[in-house]
Order: sequence, then C-alpha cells, then structure tokens
Amino acid sequence: MDTFNHVNLATIQAMSTAPLLDVRSLSIAFGKQPAVRDISFQINPGETLGLVGESGSGKSATSLAILRLLAPSAQVSGHIAFAGEPLLPLPEAAMRRHRGSSIAMIFQEPMTALNPSMRIGAQIAEALQAHHPEIAASAVKQKVLDAMQEVGLPDPEQRLRDYPHQFSGGQRQRILIAMALINRPHLLIADEPTTALDVTVQAQILHLLKELRQTHNLSMLFISHDLAVVSQVADRVAVMQHGQIVEQAPTETLFRHPQHPYTRSLIAAAPTMRTDKNRPLASPINAMQ
Ligand SMILES: Nc1ncnc2c1ncn2[C@@H]1O[C@H](COP(=O)(O)OP(=O)(O)O)[C@@H](O)[C@H]1O
Ligand SMILES: [Mg+2]
Repeated sequence: MDTFNHVNLATIQAMSTAPLLDVRSLSIAFGKQPAVRDISFQINPGETLGLVGESGSGKSATSLAILRLLAPSAQVSGHIAFAGEPLLPLPEAAMRRHRGSSIAMIFQEPMTALNPSMRIGAQIAEALQAHHPEIAASAVKQKVLDAMQEVGLPDPEQRLRDYPHQFSGGQRQRILIAMALINRPHLLIADEPTTALDVTVQAQILHLLKELRQTHNLSMLFISHDLAVVSQVADRVAVMQHGQIVEQAPTETLFRHPQHPYTRSLIAAAPTMRTDKNRPLASPINAMQ
C-alpha cells in the first residue's frame, strides 16, 4: 500500500535499524556569521525528535538545510542522509522528488504557506498532483476529501471550494497538514507548527499530530522554542543554543536529569508557560502519556 513514494517503505523497513534521517557534523553559515555549528542527530523510523531552543538558535536553518531550501548564499557543510541516501550531493531534480513527498514540511504561519486566491480543494489536489500526475481527476478528488477528513476538517465536500480566509487559523494548519501528508511522507518536519495558534487550538493540533504519527508510523522533526510543547510530542529532545546542540536525551530523561544549565533554565521556565501553574515540574512528562 505504501509503495507510493520512490523511497519505498520496504527499503526503509529492511534497514530499520538504520536511522531514517542521519545528520552529522552539520554546519551552516550566512557569510561570516555561523548559524549552526557542527550538530549531529538521528531520527529513527516512527520516532519524533523535538528540537528546542531560543529564537535565533538555528532551528529553522537546520530544517531548511535538510530540505535544501536555504538561500544559495548559505554555506552548508557536513552530512545529511535520508533512508541511507546522502541529500547534500543530490542533483536538484532528485531533491525535488523528496520535497513534499517522502519528506514533507509544515510551518508556523499557515496563511503565508497557502495561496489566498486558490480554493483549498485545488491546493490540496495540487500538492498530490505535483508528485503524482498519473492519478486520474476523479481519484484525485476522493483523495483530497479523504485527506480533509483525516485531519478533521468539517464538511469536506462543502468546504472544498472555500478559500483560505474562510477558515480559522487552526483549520488552516489542518489544511497544511493534509497537504503535507497526502503523499504519505516518511518524515514530517514541523517548524513551530502551533506557535501562531491560541492555547486551545494548539492542544488540538498537537493531538492531531500525535494521532497521525501513530496511524502513519511517521517520523517527525518537531521544532519549537517552547519545551512544554515539544515534550508533549517528542520521544527524544535535542536542545539548541547559539547554533549548537548542547544536550540530547529521551524526553523523560531530559526532564528528570537535565545536564546542561540551559536545559535546566528551559525546564524552570516551562511550568509558567502552562495553563496550570500549580502542576509539578514533571507535568510535561505526564502530558506525554
Ligand atoms: N537567510 C538568512 N540570511 C542571514 N542570516 C540568517 C538567514 N536565516 C537565518 N539567519 C540567521 O541564522 C541564525 C539562526 O536563525 P534561525 O535558524 O532562523 O533560528 P531559529 O529558527 O532557531 O529561531 C540567526 O542568527 C539568523 O539571524
Ligand atoms: Mg525558526
């Protein structure tokens, strides 16, 4: 069923002991300014890695480097492999086949990622047809409806013809998640996907992402400046500061035994970001279960 992508699932399962994403000694600089300094991390099949750190610490630059979407002026060095295939030396055409297909991405601000003058049904269809021009128009419509259904958009048949501004912020993020998942990616990169949303909607989107990663055995790179948010979805957390990963551990270990002072300061700040300030420090761990 899932031989949909050119990186087929059997290949990935055959090498299931190998990481799906392997980033080693990645450095990124803009001119003389280093943005990311010699970072390494791996994401195993089905695993979610949280990348947390203050604004400007290099999280987005890292995610854009994986998809090779950084400005040409950025200098990137190191090694990035997806399902065993090194991405940095790939020709652009081969990279394009990965983007939005085997590796998909969602961003912070759903409105800017959507085309305001295009009906959402057509936008979701376009995401599918970009990688699967062979699918017949009738089948495309059904797949779009299924995708809308799956992300909990109400009345898909009626709403297909609506424009982005007719949806709420949370619904727009659901539309982007539908577009990201319609090609059955193996890796989803989510860069601050709930930061622009209010707390209640943020919780709903986190719940949806958790559900979808189960049903699709999805691997995720989940990026946020907010450790409390990251700890709700991540199996492991990498903490970034000034372009470096200062600590990396399973989520529970990170909370119980933080090693780095910066991690401790993030944990100390976490309860004040939560709605119930009286909860004990360990509450983000409870929230994971
Ligand atoms: N296109 C760019 N040109 C120059 N500097 C950039 C560019 N993109 C990011 N940077 C710089 O790289 C650093 C890391 O940025 P970024 O990865 O966006 O941080 P984060 O996502 O953690 O907030 C910052 O100092 C930022 O100013
Ligand atoms: Mg960012």
